[in-house]
Amino acid sequence: MSNPVVLGIESSCDETAVALVAADRTIIAQRIASQDEAHRPYGGVVPELAARAHADRLAPMIEAVLDEAGMALGQVDAIAGTAGPGLIGGVMVGLVTAKALAMAAGKPLIAVNHLEGHALSPRLADASLQFPYLLLLVSGGHCQLLCVDGVGRYRRLATTIDDAVGEAFDKSAKVLGLGFPGGPALERAARTGDGARFPLPRPLVGSAEPHFSFAGLKSAVLRARAAIPAPLEQDIADLAASFQQATCDCLVDRTARAIEAVPEVTALVVAGGVAANQAIRRALADLAAAHGLPFVAPPLWLCTDNGAMIAWAGQERLAAGLIDDLDAPARPRWPLDPDAEAVRGAGVKA
Ligand code: KG4
Ligand code: ZN
Repeated sequence: MSNPVVLGIESSCDETAVALVAADRTIIAQRIASQDEAHRPYGGVVPELAARAHADRLAPMIEAVLDEAGMALGQVDAIAGTAGPGLIGGVMVGLVTAKALAMAAGKPLIAVNHLEGHALSPRLADASLQFPYLLLLVSGGHCQLLCVDGVGRYRRLATTIDDAVGEAFDKSAKVLGLGFPGGPALERAARTGDGARFPLPRPLVGSAEPHFSFAGLKSAVLRARAAIPAPLEQDIADLAASFQQATCDCLVDRTARAIEAVPEVTALVVAGGVAANQAIRRALADLAAAHGLPFVAPPLWLCTDNGAMIAWAGQERLAAGLIDDLDAPARPRWPLDPDAEAVRGAGVKA
């Protein structure tokens, strides 16, 4: 096993994704099937539809990835599957598939925390990134600052007290009539907008507590939109840009606070679907530079859900001797830092 290969399976939300990744960081083969078309009529992910689509697609995608790699299942060294957190029907489809393959091939099972997949993905893209690093994890369900001390070792410094940042993007995009999926659509609209036109709130900016809040910002977008009865395309672009600017300001302020709290970190890292946003990447790159820290952001395709990040987390866990039993549970909630204290507010996912 000089260069072991891990098969990674991701099915926790609306991407069915499979990848074969070697320990030397080669992505041997991968497939990502998005379900945007299935969920678009509903303006959001329908868990039941997502689970059924994973059940339909996953096995043929695994077959296709093995075929492309010219590998038999027996040549794979471990099977890594997302075991949570996420929409539980989809998680169960992926995890049970991973267990069945591990059992059939007599290979180790690695039950991966989806958030750890995002958290370690920057190390797949950048071999020089060392622990500990400060991670801003921004996705559809989460907004957290974590000190990543090592594989499986996370200290949560901050989390959202209400909405996740991706959720705020998605809901604001919906209010602005920008379609689904909302995050990328809002970023596109914001490109031609004036981010200074609407004075939107920056919740918790400058506050002594470390956390994030986006619910007030989201509601302010709703009110600003309602105040323009027949908006022109430019009005929508300006509102999108103003929302994106307010979000950047919130993320930068909270991250700057966290940088002060963990002087031991070697880099500022961003991961998760919202890390695909160019304005946010630029703002964080400037912040890191101002603090003399390297800034690491995975390539765009590795920010949103994919199988390679699950296979890579599997590689890191395999190397650390962290393999799982076949009765590993599917977990709708699964915080990376189990010792982190609960924060106030509704809708807190972890
Ligand atoms: O990590 P991810 O693919 O799935 C979760 O684990 O949640 O993140 C999805 C989230 C969605 O809320 C989506 O709108 C957001 O990431 N997103 C973006 C962009 N691309 C994806 N948000 C802002 N700008 C983008 N370019
Ligand atoms: Zn994700």
